[in-house]
Amino acid sequence: MPEIVTLTMNPALDIATSADTVVPTDKVRCAPPRYDPGGGGINVARVVRVLGGDAFAIFPAGGPAGGTLENLLDRDGVPHSRIPIDGPTRENFTVDERRSSLQYRFVLPGPALTQAECEACLARLAEVAEGTRFIVASGSLPPGVPVGFFQTVADLAKERGIPFVLDTSGDALRAMRSGVYLLKPSIRELREWVGRELREEAQQVEAARELIGRGISQIVVVSLGAKGALLVTAERYESLPPIAVPVRSTVGAGDSMVGAITVGLVKGLDLRHAVRLGMAAGAATLMSPGTELCHRADVERLYAACIAPEAEAAR
Ligand SMILES: Nc1ncnc2c1ncn2[C@@H]1O[C@H](COP(=O)(O)OP(=O)(O)OP(=O)(O)O)[C@@H](O)[C@H]1O
Ligand SMILES: [Mg+2]
Repeated sequence: MPEIVTLTMNPALDIATSADTVVPTDKVRCAPPRYDPGGGGINVARVVRVLGGDAFAIFPAGGPAGGTLENLLDRDGVPHSRIPIDGPTRENFTVDERRSSLQYRFVLPGPALTQAECEACLARLAEVAEGTRFIVASGSLPPGVPVGFFQTVADLAKERGIPFVLDTSGDALRAMRSGVYLLKPSIRELREWVGRELREEAQQVEAARELIGRGISQIVVVSLGAKGALLVTAERYESLPPIAVPVRSTVGAGDSMVGAITVGLVKGLDLRHAVRLGMAAGAATLMSPGTELCHRADVERLYAACIAPEAEAAR
C-alpha cells in the first residue's frame, strides 16, 4: 500500500512555453511547449516521488487532456488511479515572457462533476487509503463538487485514523469544521479565511491559532512566499526565514512544500525539520522554469544548507 495518497479534484494538463513578447492581436510565436500533469494533489505526488517517497494520486479526469494527464503521470513514474468523468479535463497555459521575465498564467475552469463522479472519487480514496500513512488533498474544487467535500474527506480519514493534510482556499477552506492534521494556507488564503489584513506576525499567529482553536486543524503552516513560513501549533509557534534562490517560476512552490513536509514526516523527521524540508522543496521549485517542479539534488542541498547553522548553534 502507498505511504501517501493524494486527491486532486480539479486536475489540469499544464502547458508551459516562452515567447519573446506577449502582445495583443498579433500572433505570439512560442517556444516548443513542455507538458506536465498538474493540479494540487498531482503536484504533491510528483514531488513525493522526486524525493524518493511513495505516493499514489487519485483524480477525476475525462476527455483528451484526461488521457494525456495519465500518460504524463506514467512518464513521471507516479502511480495513480483516474476516476473517469464525462467532462473534459482542463488545460492551463503558462507563458514566460523572455523580454520582461514576467510570467503569464492562464487558468481555465475545470469541468463540472456529477454527484456520482464525486462519490466514485470518495469510494476510490477509501479503497486505496486503507493502511496508508497520510492522505493529502490539495487544490480547488471544480463546479458540481459540494463545498463541504474536503470535510467529507477529513471525516473519512479520521474514521480510519489516517492524518489528513489539506491545502485549499476560498469556500472549500471556509467549509472546514474539523479533522485536519496539518493545514497549509498561504498568507493570502489565511487573510481571506479570517477576513483581516494580518500585517504583523502576531496577527498571523493569532489567525492560525483560530483555525487550531476551532478544532479545524492541529497544525497550521502559513507559507509567506518570499518571507518564508510560520509553523503554528496550539503550544508554540516558530517563524522560519526564507531560503534565498534565483526565482525562475513560482508555479508549484506551495505544492512542493506540502509534498516535502509529508515525505519528511513519513521518514520520521520532527515537525520543524519536515517544514524546513518543505521550504527547501518550495525554494528548489522556484529555480525550475514554467510548471517543472523541484530536483532532488537541489532540495537536499538547500535543506542541508538551512539546517547546518541551526545544528552549529545547538552545539
Ligand atoms: N520568492 C521566494 N523566495 C524564497 N522562498 C520562496 C519564495 N516563494 C515561495 N517560497 C517558498 O515556498 C513556500 C511556498 O510558497 P507560497 O507561500 O508562495 O505558497 P503557494 O501555496 O505557492 O501560494 P498561493 O497558493 O497563494 O499561490 C514558501 O513558504 C517559501 O518557503
Ligand atoms: Mg498554494
